Amino acid sequence: MALLITGGAGFIGSNFVLEWLAREQEPVVVLDKLTYAGNPENLASVHSDPRFAFVRGDIGDRPFVAALLQKHGVRAVVNFAAESHVDRSIHGPGEFIHTNVVGTFELLEAVRGYWGALEAAAKESFRFLHVSTDEVYGSLGAEEPAFTEKHQFQPNSPYSASKAASDHLVRAYHHTYGLPVLTTNCSNNYGPFHFPEKLIPLMILNALNGKPLPVYGDGKNVRDWLYVTDHCSAIRRVLQAGRLGETYNVGGRNEMTNLEVVQKLCSILDELRPLEAGRSYWEQVHFVKDRPGHDRRYAIDASLIERELGWLPSETFETGIRKTIGWYLAHPEWVQGVVSGAYREWVAKQYGA
Ligand code: NAD
Ligand code: TYD
Repeated sequence: MALLITGGAGFIGSNFVLEWLAREQEPVVVLDKLTYAGNPENLASVHSDPRFAFVRGDIGDRPFVAALLQKHGVRAVVNFAAESHVDRSIHGPGEFIHTNVVGTFELLEAVRGYWGALEAAAKESFRFLHVSTDEVYGSLGAEEPAFTEKHQFQPNSPYSASKAASDHLVRAYHHTYGLPVLTTNCSNNYGPFHFPEKLIPLMILNALNGKPLPVYGDGKNVRDWLYVTDHCSAIRRVLQAGRLGETYNVGGRNEMTNLEVVQKLCSILDELRPLEAGRSYWEQVHFVKDRPGHDRRYAIDASLIERELGWLPSETFETGIRKTIGWYLAHPEWVQGVVSGAYREWVAKQYGA
């Protein structure tokens, strides 16, 4: 018996795997294609754990996934694998359709075949948990209520449209085939191992390197930030007790404008790594051209998971962002590996082309 964690070498997936192995006895198998966003170094601390296995592969490779499910006697799949960066989806949507839509479909087909052949008790307890995003719901006006699970899907970027399509496929596999699925739609995460193309790690590293802090548009777009281990605890809870076929919104009730986030980062860095007299990292802020179709505001109403499953986040933005900045300051070798591409060379060497 094991969990299959797809995309487990990425930001949230690797945090989930590390937390799982620290808390539970059950083994995990990570299936990851190791795109630019996947980094085996994230999992270095568990490489020698006998409960951990890593397999490089594509969720879109149905026969390969089917064999893996069989080999490890998988009792649940948690699907993190995706192309995840909105800006990349604007430059090149093809990979997003390929992995997030077609890949999820192939994964569902492999899982359906495997699950269908399980004996009754194993079939009953099997779970497929699909990790998704609040971005499927589109953008909110300043005064509109936060997204509930009933909010209409109105995705605006190729990324969010591809995630919305995958959510629909997961839902359809439950309604049509009875596959025991669960879906989570979470707000913006931050924390350790976050690839520095996303707002928070990019701003931390640019600040420390004396580079401009590029704020898109007027900087007043609002995101609802959740510390990554709180997302992981929500996923564990949904896996354990979620109602089959249900979707659960996950968020920290922590709406902030991008400018507020950057201001906070700069003030903590001013305290922890002060510049010479009187100067602040805030002086590095540059307003740049806005993202096309930039969603104005996301906000999650997490009442359902709070009420039904008793989940609550443990971190506030203040505690979470201090942990995050502390982690980046304490792990220059991780940053160096990612930024220099050294870890990609290592991947080619270790796993072949
Ligand atoms: P990430 O980009 O850091 O990691 C994605 C991982 O998936 C990488 O390790 C990559 O190598 C792997 N992958 C990509 N294509 C694959 C394929 N075809 N087969 C196997 N592996 C593949 O992303 P993340 O931020 O960790 O997000 C994980 C999931 O959570 C995604 O589905 C994303 O949509 C969702 N999500 C992210 C956030 C956030 O704020 N980052 C918020 C809510 C939901
Ligand atoms: P991002 O981390 O890419 O997450 P998402 O687009 O999925 O919410 O961006 C978070 C917010 O920060 C978003 O409103 C875009 C903005 N942003 C910037 O202003 N500058 C940047 O360099 C980046 C990467 C993002």
